[in-house]
Amino acid sequence: MKNTVVIGAQWGDEGKAKITDLLAEKADMIIRYQGGCNAGHTVVHNGETYKLHIVPSGILYDNKICFIANGTVILPEVFEQETKELKERGVDLSKLKISPLATITMPYHTEVDGWAEDTVKKGKIGSTRKGIGPTYTDKIARCALKVGDLFDEETLLEKIDIILPLKNKILKQVYGLKEYSKDEILELCKKYKAIFEPYICENWQDLLRENKKKNILFEGAQGVMLDVDFGTYPFVTSSNPISGGACTGSGYGPAMIDEVIGVSKAYVTRVGEGPFVTELNDEIGDKIREIGHEFGTTTGRPRRCGWFDAVIAKYAVLVGGLTSMALTKIDVFDDFDEIKICTAYKDTKNGKIYNNYPTDVFIHDRLEPIYETHKGWKQSLSDVKRYQDLPKEAKDYLKRLEEIFEIPISIISVGPDREQTILMKNF
Ligand code: GDP
Ligand code: IMO
Ligand code: MG
Repeated sequence: MKNTVVIGAQWGDEGKAKITDLLAEKADMIIRYQGGCNAGHTVVHNGETYKLHIVPSGILYDNKICFIANGTVILPEVFEQETKELKERGVDLSKLKISPLATITMPYHTEVDGWAEDTVKKGKIGSTRKGIGPTYTDKIARCALKVGDLFDEETLLEKIDIILPLKNKILKQVYGLKEYSKDEILELCKKYKAIFEPYICENWQDLLRENKKKNILFEGAQGVMLDVDFGTYPFVTSSNPISGGACTGSGYGPAMIDEVIGVSKAYVTRVGEGPFVTELNDEIGDKIREIGHEFGTTTGRPRRCGWFDAVIAKYAVLVGGLTSMALTKIDVFDDFDEIKICTAYKDTKNGKIYNNYPTDVFIHDRLEPIYETHKGWKQSLSDVKRYQDLPKEAKDYLKRLEEIFEIPISIISVGPDREQTILMKNF
């Protein structure tokens, strides 16, 4: 297997975890390199469903190193709950490791996130309320606590002395939120140390060195359109889900990466606020949501649904650095007479046609999708295992998408289970 990055090519929830779990069979190490507990990654294995937020989706195999790397932010309570549940279900966590450089989400981060969600009206993000934005803000502002800090008392005390007065001032004066005493923070840190102790990987440099010649799978969270640099800013997350994030977030350089697989659904979904040109607020959108079970893994919110958007797909191929695409959930269209693909946007104000993705998202509410229509296949694809066994209409639809992407479709997913997959090449 080549070293491969799996990233979302849309607004998240494309089925990255299914693809990661599938490819993990041939990998030696699986790395989660950005994002945090905002992610909700579903793996269906042997008829059992696992919902992961921060633990890499390779964890269901024995003998794979699963590394939560420096670029992630971790909410200790969610990590604790997730590992507890996995252990109770008999999953072996002895190869799960956390970088000391991963950043800790503190209670004040989730409180500030919640405050923003409850208070801001215009320009509200619709975040997952997991403290992601405030934690990454502190990381970049150089006032965050890292997992490694918990393991050296002197460092911890020194860092708290630097961070806490500043944090308390902001918490009180800007947000009107509760201040924290040094004892409270120390007490929390003691608890967090116990949570992370079995997994902390002090010798992460050796880990990266030893695995340099082995097979590495990088598991992205969120998706290109939620990228803080390239997504629908400001309606994005606070990390880099593009493939470049795999390098800054893991400690491996770009020369280590051989392949980048973008994961796209056969349609588009989005949770939270922000522009979505192909959104369907009608019975077709409802039908997609119902058949595709489009409800958030992390928050349970109904996902907004719409037709496949080739404008963002081409953009994701470019800025995501994709070398091939995995197309998921085509089975959701089994009962559709017609399937649409948006090939361009039209500005209703001046008639301008956009073939490229317009990065000024404040004009998106006046953009209208231009569609081409494809005939549905009207039969179940759930059991199809080989490309040649797909109906002609499905093949035509996939060929058209490939033509648009200008990169091959390497994986076709026809159901949630690991087995419900058509591989277009050997991995
Ligand atoms: P992720 O965040 O990208 O890993 O995706 P999620 O796990 O949040 O959401 C994808 C959902 O679609 C999960 O419930 C998967 O089990 C499911 N899924 C993945 N691939 C397919 C597929 O090809 N067909 C169907 N019907 N469901 C799928
Ligand atoms: P996975 O990895 C879908 C969205 C939120 C919100 C925006 C910012 O499962 O694909 P945040 O809490 O990150 O500050 O919220 O990003 N969002 C996701 N949407 N899938 C995800 O992860 C997401 N993680 C964050 O809904 O719009
Ligand atoms: Mg998800």
